Amino acid sequence: MTDLAERRGLDDTVVYQPAEDSGLLAEAAIAEAGGRVLEVGTGSGWVAAQIADERGLEVVGSDLNPHAARQAGERSVEAVVADLLSPFRADAFDTICFNPPYLPTDPDNEWDDWMEHALSGGETGRELIEPFLADVGRVLAPAGVVLLLVSSLTGYDEVLALVDNAGFDHEVVDEESFPFETLTVLALRR
Ligand SMILES: C[S@@+](CC[C@H](N)C(=O)[O-])C[C@H]1O[C@@H](n2cnc3c(N)ncnc32)[C@H](O)[C@@H]1O
Repeated sequence: MTDLAERRGLDDTVVYQPAEDSGLLAEAAIAEAGGRVLEVGTGSGWVAAQIADERGLEVVGSDLNPHAARQAGERSVEAVVADLLSPFRADAFDTICFNPPYLPTDPDNEWDDWMEHALSGGETGRELIEPFLADVGRVLAPAGVVLLLVSSLTGYDEVLALVDNAGFDHEVVDEESFPFETLTVLALRR
């Protein structure tokens, strides 16, 4: 356990558990997914398991957090420890889902633990979304779809500009508003 986590009384093996954002992504993925599926940042593996159970598709989960990969494995999701898309070969998946860490976070308030990695999108909220969108076209099969969860806290228009720069068209497939944010699932296609 890191010192900071210890001082805050946090368990360093912590893994993001399913919440409203997970539910919205799962709903969209059950409707839209096809072929070979990758869930980046799978956390507990709940979204990946929903897709596998409801659609009977082959789903791989990946996460930077080894405790997440273990928990996903316990749900019978084939899970690997990976930084975003780095280990995957070109055209490997037909559907790629991502509920990214998206909260804009003051660098002085960053937590040095796994929950920081699950929640913080850096100063802009887009520090994981940017490299994900820059590389996802490599791993996605030609007729594939990316399902990306976006929060209004992250800057919806700024994310759409990144989507456009990466060469994707977008479609809103699900949206829900909460008191402090609106969550949208975008389907991205070439
Ligand atoms: C908001 S949580 C979503 C978890 C799960 N997909 C869900 O919807 O319940 C974001 C996840 O991304 C993972 N993550 C953070 N940085 C990552 C990276 N560079 N590569 C892969 N996964 C990462 C976190 O560990 C966390 O499990």
